[in-house]
This record gives sequence, C-alpha cells and structure tokens, in this order.
Amino acid sequence: MISEPMKRFAVLTSGGDAPGMNAAIRAVTRTGLEHGWEVVGVQRGFAGLIAGAFTTLGARDVGGIMQRGGTVLGSARSAEFATAEGRRKALDRLAAAEIGALAVIGGNGSQTGAHLLSKMGFPVVGIASTIDNDLCGSDITIGVDTALNIGLEAIDRLRVTASSHNRAFVIEVMGRGCGYLALMTGIAGGAEFIVIPEVEADPERVAAEIRGAYERGKPHAIVVAAEGAKYNAAGLSAYFKDQSDRLGFALRVTTLGHVQRGGQPTFADRFLGTRLGAGAADRIARGEFGVLVGMKRGEVVSTPLEEVAGVKKPLDTGLLRLAGILAR
Ligand code: F6P
Repeated sequence: MISEPMKRFAVLTSGGDAPGMNAAIRAVTRTGLEHGWEVVGVQRGFAGLIAGAFTTLGARDVGGIMQRGGTVLGSARSAEFATAEGRRKALDRLAAAEIGALAVIGGNGSQTGAHLLSKMGFPVVGIASTIDNDLCGSDITIGVDTALNIGLEAIDRLRVTASSHNRAFVIEVMGRGCGYLALMTGIAGGAEFIVIPEVEADPERVAAEIRGAYERGKPHAIVVAAEGAKYNAAGLSAYFKDQSDRLGFALRVTTLGHVQRGGQPTFADRFLGTRLGAGAADRIARGEFGVLVGMKRGEVVSTPLEEVAGVKKPLDTGLLRLAGILAR
C-alpha cells in the first residue's frame, strides 16, 4: 500500500522578532487548516526545532495575536542549528513528529538556515521577516513599517526639544549592517544628515553639516545614524566629546536600540504578515518548496532560497542626495 504524504507542517519564527510576525503565524495556520493540513507551532525558532518543542495549532490558538508585537512562538538565534549535527537532530525531530514541511518566518540568517535544511532534502518555505529590510526576494519585509514609524516618532520628538534649545542630536537606529532604516527615517523625518554603513561619512563631515544647518538659520540639527555605520552614535559621540571646544557645539546622543523592534504592528505590517503567511501555506499545499515568500510590486512572489540566502539586498544610496537637497 502506498502511504499518504504527511499533511502536517510546522511553523517557526527565528532571529530578531519583528512586528507582524504574529499576523504571519495566524495566516499560515488558518490558511494551512483551510487546505486540509494540520499545523504545528515550534517554540523558540531553530533551537525549539532541535529540542522538539512542538504544539499543535488550531484556528482558535492563533486568535487575538495579530495586534501584538513580537512573536507568540518565541524566537532565538541558535548556534547549534548552524552545525550539521544540529540540523540532523532537527530533521529527526520533524520525522518523529510526522511533520512533512516547515515554514520559517525570519530574516537573512534564518533564511540561510532554511536553505541549509532545504538542501538536506526537507520541504521548506521561508517568509520574509526582518526589521532591517536587507533580505532579497521582498521589496519590504515584515516589521519594517512598524520599525520605521517608531524611528520617525523618536526623530519628531527629538526635534521638538532640539529646537527649543538650539541643540544638535544624533539618533541611532537599528538595521545591523544595513542603512535602510536610517536612510528612510532620515528622509521622512527631515534629518539634517544621515550616516549609513553603505556610504560612510567621517565626523568632520557630520560637524560641517551641523554647522551648515545652524548657519542656514535652523534652530536644531538632527543626524540619523545607522547602528552598523563606523561612526554610529558611539563613534560620533566619542569624537564630538573630544573635539567639542574646537567644533563649537556638543552633540547629544539617543540610541533607539530594541525599543524600535518592540512596537505594536502597523496596518502595513499586519497586512504584509497576513499576505505572506497565507502565501506560504498556499505554496506548501501545492508542493512548492525551497522558496522564500515575499512581496514585490504588490504581488506575493516566490524566490528560490538559494538566491536569497546570505545575500544582502542593495540599498538605493542615491536617496542620500535627495536627503541632502531636502535638508537645505
Ligand atoms: O536583525 C534585526 C535586529 O534588530 C538588528 O537590527 C539588530 O542589529 C539585531 O537584530 C539585534 O539583535 P539582538 O536582538 O540579538 O541583540
């Protein structure tokens, strides 16, 4: 007798949590159930896969989660999964639980993990999710919009106090090695200058831009720096402390840090998470594996994992010029 293929898939969230992940969990679960599959939630990402931390997910189990930031499944960065032995343990766990496919909600590192599992012959579908927006295969990833809005609110608030005191501020935003969040919030927040890792700027240039803003009659100067830039908040702060007498002004520093990742998901992130989660379940149901599900030009699309794993999405650094013009 030919045995029926296993109609049970697992879903996990991995790497940095991102607002909108819960919408993706809800959508992949309910769409999977609609296609006649059983759905299993994995706790704490790939670490939970290795430990066999599985729970069955029904439609009610994913109710009331869409409006919450973070991930109800928990997340982790698993060093063990980076080893071949760790991945073999994960495959054993999946086989023992009769799980026939896996949806991986996460960013660059997580999709590299998904790709490795896929290369070992396991059916995997990735869902593009990271606040950094450095993942190929999706114009924008789950969590980016919320993180941008949190950054923007911080810039708006800083400008209020900066203007009252004629002060210069640098605000550091997240993004790991990618300047996307800094560039976009810098433009939409009307920053006087933006520092990103893709186009490094030295502190003398930053000082010149701040001085220029004061000379043009501005009551404040806001610099947005990406955490991954050489001269991020710590780098600029150290330089300005050392040189403040010569430069003629001090630079106050705000580092947004994980505050930027913990927000309640915006409409855009709930909707993106929903579309990508549902799209992943559709692909699992039709047997399309080894792909990342993302959004391009408003369409849910698949890109082979091997094309996205370990590849950094290029940033449109030409927008820095626009930022400079608009800061006049
Ligand atoms: O990748 C998402 C991200 O928030 C990056 O922007 C940041 O550099 C990193 O994760 C922080 O990682 P962790 O939460 O492990 O400190």
